[in-house]
Amino acid sequence: MTEVRIPLHQLRSRPLTVPEGAAVQDALQRPLRDLRISVTDRCNFRCTYCMPKSVFGPGHRFLPQADLLSFEEITRTARAFVGLGVRKLRITGGEPLLRRELPTLVRQLAGLRTPEGLPLDLTLTTNGTLLRQHAAALAEAGLQRVSVSLDAMDDAVFRRMNDMDVGVAEVLEGIAAAQQAGLGPIKVNAVVQRGVNEQELLPLARHFRHRGIVLRFIEFMDVGASNGWRLDDVVPSAVLRERLHAAHPLHALDPSEPGETAERWAYDDGAGEVGFISSVSQAFCGQCNRARLSTDGRLFTCLFGHQGLDLRRWLRDGQTDDATLRAHIAGHWAQRSDRYSALRLADTPEAEWLRATQRVEMSYIGG
Ligand code: GTP
Ligand code: 5AD
Ligand code: SF4
Ligand code: SF4
Repeated sequence: MTEVRIPLHQLRSRPLTVPEGAAVQDALQRPLRDLRISVTDRCNFRCTYCMPKSVFGPGHRFLPQADLLSFEEITRTARAFVGLGVRKLRITGGEPLLRRELPTLVRQLAGLRTPEGLPLDLTLTTNGTLLRQHAAALAEAGLQRVSVSLDAMDDAVFRRMNDMDVGVAEVLEGIAAAQQAGLGPIKVNAVVQRGVNEQELLPLARHFRHRGIVLRFIEFMDVGASNGWRLDDVVPSAVLRERLHAAHPLHALDPSEPGETAERWAYDDGAGEVGFISSVSQAFCGQCNRARLSTDGRLFTCLFGHQGLDLRRWLRDGQTDDATLRAHIAGHWAQRSDRYSALRLADTPEAEWLRATQRVEMSYIGG
């Protein structure tokens, strides 16, 4: 990448334009590398830790169609981010496969190139239920890989967690379809809640060992304002890892890239890799390089954000050119100092304020 360093004071005063290939850093010297794009705030699951029915019931008002960014608007925004250092694009939601004609967006995003002319890492997070239907078309459109959420191997436990009576088999069929379409390496994400699915650790691990699929256990987090999170409901990754290690010995692997979410481990017997995402017990904000674009075009610089920067007004005003759009994004990133997970349990006024202020929902800004 051409290292065009933009002085912080200049970004804070919003330069009129920013050249393509500029490397931006936030107030804590973290670069911008990863953009997560939420394409819908809707989902066909009502996971109790994400979209509980008590809040996302029949009366819940989702975003009206006109508020959603179009595929062209999303692609233009993604291109601006790529011009500022983004190298990974993740399509999320809600459930992204509910968005109509998604392969069309995938094709547009797959056509983007870095300033050096290289393709991006293009991936998608899904609950897997619609993969059987869409995996082949997504792969054909240029999607490289998928991450699928699955919290249990036991049907009754899984049905209780997704609260829509969807069985495990449907998700496994989706994963198989993704494998067949070449959408790998596939990752499977399992959120662990104490007393709900912690007993699923070994069944999940045993199922995905030897299958070339990376299973990752995620500590239950206090995202949004709906899931009734309590620290007691979190099973620390270290505890899960010890339990897994006792049954199937593990050794640590080096991180594959700076700022990644998961700690990587491998089975000693060669059965593959497993990961732990420990946002609560071991925050990884220090190198966080992730930005999120909400369904309606707001830029969030933290998963636990309260407010986003409205990019849609510039996409729709008919006069903002790409260099100016980049400048708005760069300026916002430059003043970013988010590190919610690192402050979550701190006893300071800042942490107090962060805990008390209503956070946006994960289904709106994307996982
Ligand atoms: P890979 O490139 O596939 O490794 O992606 P990833 O681990 O960056 O992304 P993924 O969306 O699979 O993230 C897995 C889970 O980690 C998410 O579902 C979230 O629960 C959690 N997560 C992702 N990004 C963040 C983050 O920035 N902060 C926190 N606290 N948690 C995150
Ligand atoms: N805590 C941890 N992970 C969560 N996810 C959704 N809500 C939470 C939460 N409260 C995960 C899902 C999925 C991804 C999109 O985010 O399990 O893997
Ligand atoms: Fe839907 Fe994923 Fe949230 Fe579950 S975690 S409700 S599948 S968006
Ligand atoms: Fe990044 Fe915010 Fe997550 Fe920390 S809590 S890793 S700053 S998204």
